[in-house]
Parts: sequence; C-alpha cells; structure tokens
Amino acid sequence: MITRKELIKKYLEFFQSKNHQVIPSASLVPANDPTVLFTTAGMHPLVPFLIGQKHPLGKRLCGIQKCIRTTDIDEVGDETHHTFFEMLGNWSLGDYWKKEAVEFSFEFLTEVLKIPKEKISVTCFKGDKDAPKDEESEKTWKSLGIKKIKFLGKEDNWWGPAGETGPCGPDTEMFIKDKSGKEVEIWNDVFMQYHKTKDGKFEPLKQKNVDTGMGVERTLAILNNLDDNYQTEVWKPIIEEIELYCGKKYKGNEKPMRIIADHVKAAVFLIADGVEPSNTGRGYVLRRLMRRAIIKLGNLKGKKNVYGFGSDLLIPIVDSIYSIYQDYKELKENKQRILGVIRAEGEKFDKTVNNGLNFFDKLTKNKKNISGKDAFLLYQSYGFPIELTQELAEENKVKIDIKEYEQELKKHQELSRSASAGIFKSGLADHSDKTIRLHTATHLLNEALRKVLGEEVKQRGSNITPERLRFDFNFPRKLTDKEIKEVETLVNKKIKEGLEIKRNEMELKDAMTSGAQAEFGMKYPDRVSVYSIGNFSKEICTGPHVKNTKEIGKFKIIKEESSAAGIRRIKAVVE
Ligand code: ALA
Repeated sequence: MITRKELIKKYLEFFQSKNHQVIPSASLVPANDPTVLFTTAGMHPLVPFLIGQKHPLGKRLCGIQKCIRTTDIDEVGDETHHTFFEMLGNWSLGDYWKKEAVEFSFEFLTEVLKIPKEKISVTCFKGDKDAPKDEESEKTWKSLGIKKIKFLGKEDNWWGPAGETGPCGPDTEMFIKDKSGKEVEIWNDVFMQYHKTKDGKFEPLKQKNVDTGMGVERTLAILNNLDDNYQTEVWKPIIEEIELYCGKKYKGNEKPMRIIADHVKAAVFLIADGVEPSNTGRGYVLRRLMRRAIIKLGNLKGKKNVYGFGSDLLIPIVDSIYSIYQDYKELKENKQRILGVIRAEGEKFDKTVNNGLNFFDKLTKNKKNISGKDAFLLYQSYGFPIELTQELAEENKVKIDIKEYEQELKKHQELSRSASAGIFKSGLADHSDKTIRLHTATHLLNEALRKVLGEEVKQRGSNITPERLRFDFNFPRKLTDKEIKEVETLVNKKIKEGLEIKRNEMELKDAMTSGAQAEFGMKYPDRVSVYSIGNFSKEICTGPHVKNTKEIGKFKIIKEESSAAGIRRIKAVVE
C-alpha cells in the first residue's frame, strides 16, 4: 500500500537528493499565456525557461502540477483517463540529458518504488525526417537491463508543442504491467530540443531540456495492485458518494459514475482557480462538465429527466473531493465561493431545462416528428444533450431526425473549432516582437491605472496576442472617458521617455517588500524575477520584455468594459 501523499513525498525527495529544486504547482489557468486554455502539463509554466531564459531556482527542477486535459474527454469513462489529474515531473533546463534522465527514472522506479525491472517496458522514438532515431535512450535502457524496448513514430513517441508552436521533442515512455496484464504508461521522459515553428519546421532550441511527467493516479493504481484508477484513494470517496446518492453500485455502472466523478472534480479545481461558468472559452468547458455531471447523475438516480433536480445535487460530491485533497490551499480558501458557483449553476441549469421542456412541448404538440434543426436548437439554446431529447421523444412517441441533427452539430463544431484555433494562433512560445512590445505596454498600463485610479487597483488577469493586449483589474465602476484618456496619455508619456527595462532575481518575500506588483491570487515560486521600467513600474514577471520603452510604439486603448462583478477589462493595441 502506498498513499498519494507518500508517492509525492518520495518523488520530490528523490529528485531533491539529485539536486533538484521544488517548484509550486501553477494555476490551471496559464499565467500570461494566451495560447492555451488550460495548464495541460508540468512544462507549461516553464516554457520561457525551456527556450532559454534563466530560471531563478536553477537548472534542475521538480514538482507536482495539477492539469486539465479536455482532449481526452471522449476517453473519460475508461480506467485511466481523466479531465483533471496530477503530474509529477522533473526538469533539466539545459543541464543533464538523456542518459541521466533515463537513469534517474530507472532508479526511482526500481529502487524507491521497488518495481521489479521485469515488469517495466519502454518505447523510444524511431526517427524520421525531423529527428534521428533515439539510440542514446535505447543504449541506456539496455545497460540498465531493460529488455522490452519498442521503437515508435511521432504519434507515440513525440511530445509537444502544447499549442501550435513551441518546445517539443522525442520521448521515451515507461509502461508497467498491471494485474490484468495490461501495460499502462506511467511516465514520460521528453527530450525537448526542438522548437516547432508556425510553418511546421522543427528548429533546434538554444538548449537541450528534459521534461518528464508521471501520472499520479495511474502510478497509484499500479503500485496498489489495482487495474482501475477509480479504485484508488483519489477517486474512491467520490465514487462512494455517488453510489450512496443513486442507491446503485459502482460495479455495473462504472462508466457514468466515472464520468460524474471526473467532471465534478475538474469543476471544483477550475472554480478554485477563478474560472466561472459561461458560454465561451474556459467558462464553457466548466459549464459543460457540470451539466454533463448533473444529467448523468439524474439518469443514474432513475429520474426520467433532470428537471427539478435542484441546485444542491452536486454538493455532497464536492465534499468528498475535499476529503481527498486537503493539501490544496486554493480549495480550502475558496470553499464558500466554490459551493456558491456550483449551486448557482445548478439553479441556472434547472431553469434552462424547464424552459427547454416548454419548448419541447410546443415543438411536439400535434406532431410526430422533431427536425434535426430543432433538436440542435434544444441542445444549443437549452443545453439539452441529444440523449435527453431522445429520451423525451421516446416517452412522447415522436421521432427525431438524427441525421440532420448530426449535420447541424458538425457544422457548429467546425465553426467553434476554427474559433478556438484562434487561441492557438500565436503559438505557445510566441514571443514575437509584437507580443513582447504589448507585454511591456501591459506593465506600463498596470502602473498607469494605479496612478490615475488609485493604489487599490490590482491586476486580475492578462492575455496577449500579437494583435492586442487584454488586461483585467479590480475597479467598481466604468471608467470615464477622461480617465481613459489620462491612462493612455501617461502610458505614451512613459514610452516617449525611453525608459530602460531591467530584470532582477530575488526572493519572493524581498520582491513583495520592495513594492513589486504581483497578480492577485497568483502563486509564485520562492525565487522570482522582478522587471522594473525606469522608476515607474516594478512587477514580478517571467518576461520577456523590450529593452527600452521606445521600442513599444504608440499605445492606444480600444475598449473598456466590464469583465465580471467588480472587474474591469481594457483592450489596447500598439502601433
Ligand atoms: N510533458 C510531458 C507529458 O505531458 C512530460 O507527458
């Protein structure tokens, strides 16, 4: 038996004994990164350092990172895929390379976790036009006595970039046989030595990095001799709560119960990191996760539809999640808010479903058919998943044109895919000239807002694409035209002054006492970089920035609007 806590401790202690420094888990909402919706791996917060910037804690890092992956959503429901999961990782930023990385992995698996080497098999990159066969990893595995080594192509043994462009490279993956004989991948050592460009080329990075990821849930299952992650301590209490609520057993209801547990867990962590349900972007993912969980729960409980389930449906499940993750401060500190958001969304869904039912009644009055377009409308405007509409149709003995529905859905998906492709447009590591200018302009804007509106103004979010910057901050009302003008003029004045941008590394506490600005609610490591712009602005930030404000160009605010209660949003461009 090994617990989650013990596994994490063993991992971090092992890598500390190999001179790695521990970094904290970053938010699920990537900081200052407009190119991805969520943090999907431990390397996200490290991108600037993978492409050459110096990390304040050195070249060897390790940590545990909470992640959200929505690409696996169709696989959620099997034994090993989750929307929310934790990933242990160790990183070499231009320090050790393949041989040492593989040796560390082997030593941890066999000596610390005591996994017999006969149970381990690995895969390596077989080579293609972009990168050679990974003979170095193969040689190292062989020297350690690993016999089962397979060579595979990019679709299996290549990781990244996380967005459209950015750091990536070949990897070697480790598999362990579970008790049913299935080989489960638990760890991945990625050799990040390439940068994928916008036109699909793989250029060598300045430095050769190692990025590894070990799935906590899968490893726990294997080590505890279980062939189902949901039987481990990080899922079981949630499953038990669902069993209790539905009066049904997990066995025989695995898939819906896993989906409910998975979605509610992901929702709780997303809300803890500040995501609110909405109809776009991250908020929409959250909304879908919660509504899908509510519907599945309703179906399991045996209600014909979800109408009238009340807003408290998910609350006992949320409590069981708290019993598992007592070490996450953001859960503890935001409990009331998290419960509030979940209740409010439940209520809202109840209402929409109610309206949808009225619409359904109207549609089917004296009719025996529902067109695909109407079924799609029920889905899109009233949040009715097709299964619900089908169930209702069956009850009322009407037919749905499923083919037409699917065509409508496909059309819509194509549209939203190209809309969300926009978010990847600049690529994960797009540190283009324009983005960097906008980034430095954001620091000037942040300080100018405080000078014009008052010291209590603090950054609440930032998103930069090559086209524009977007900056969120707390302020209770709309800005007047005069205030907007003043802010804009002050930023342009500082640009014209030609101020130098300087970077200093220091302890986080020294940065805070020096008066450097930090984003509200953001977690920072113990050592940080602080960027100063003349004597005007000072902020904790990972960069990159221009050298002199003159490089920014002319700054122009194009929009000021509300972003959430008490939060304003400014969009601006540089010309
Ligand atoms: N970034 C690598 C992964 O997610 C380690 O598998």
